[in-house]
Amino acid sequence: MAPSSPTVLVTRRLPSSVLDMLRAACDVDAHGSTDELDPQTLRERLAGKQGLLCMFNDPIDADTIAAGDGLKVISTVAVGYDNIDVSAATERGIIVTNTPDILTGATAELTWALILAVTRRVGEGDRIIRARGWHGWTFDFLLGGELRGKQLGVVGGGRIGQAVAAVASAFGMEVVFANRSGAGAEGQPVLSLDELLRTSDVVSLHVPLTDATRHLIDRRTLPRMKRSAILINTSRGGVVDDDALAWALEERLIAGAGLDVYEGEPHVHPGLLVCENVCLTPHLGSATRETRTAMAELAARNVVEVLAGRPPLTPVS
Ligand code: GLV
Repeated sequence: MAPSSPTVLVTRRLPSSVLDMLRAACDVDAHGSTDELDPQTLRERLAGKQGLLCMFNDPIDADTIAAGDGLKVISTVAVGYDNIDVSAATERGIIVTNTPDILTGATAELTWALILAVTRRVGEGDRIIRARGWHGWTFDFLLGGELRGKQLGVVGGGRIGQAVAAVASAFGMEVVFANRSGAGAEGQPVLSLDELLRTSDVVSLHVPLTDATRHLIDRRTLPRMKRSAILINTSRGGVVDDDALAWALEERLIAGAGLDVYEGEPHVHPGLLVCENVCLTPHLGSATRETRTAMAELAARNVVEVLAGRPPLTPVS
């Protein structure tokens, strides 16, 4: 590292190979813990740094960005960047980057894991066995639903939605999309959100969290779903109004849900915790060794490129 190397703050623990890559080009101030830096400490440690490498659950608001008086790049180890005030960054000429594409496969796999877990009652069965509540095979014990011949409604026509849809034919499912732009559906029908909710057996959400998608699924839209349908969310907490979902499940307005993301994580709505027909995972969408390593590497490369005066590999806009 040259004496005049740019300085970078890393907000959480990262693989040592990735830190080594950063250290070869930058002077790195790494918070070596998985815990969040409190806002005051984050701002203090950001002062004078040129780079910030953060996670999706680090709130990077306008005040934090202002505290980073030397910042040139904010690089998040995530595809979603709703935690970053991108306009505040852009106004200050700071480049924001994310890690799209490389987590598409892992997130689509987890989406299917949840679809299968809910329809075939995997979580319920596991809980019964662990509670020593299984007393032998019976003909109609824990019957689930079958996917063959059913309709998968994918909300959002981006990379992850398309990757989820690509698997549907293997299970004999028809796919429809609801997607404002109508793009990304590759010949499959694009319906209005209302029509998709009214006709789909599995509704899977794949939209970013924005002002337009916050509480897209709420007390108004949930009753439009079939009573036999299930809702899957591997996108962002906040796209679903969790209080409304707990109500809809309790009232049996829908048959079940598979959730990887929640409003106010790691808090989970108490009404969801008591529903047997809900499978809950702790924000694991991209959580494979391969994908998480690739995400951290890409985020680090984005920092290095920008601080070397070159264009980033994956800017957010
Ligand atoms: C994780 O949630 C991500 O956006 O990558």
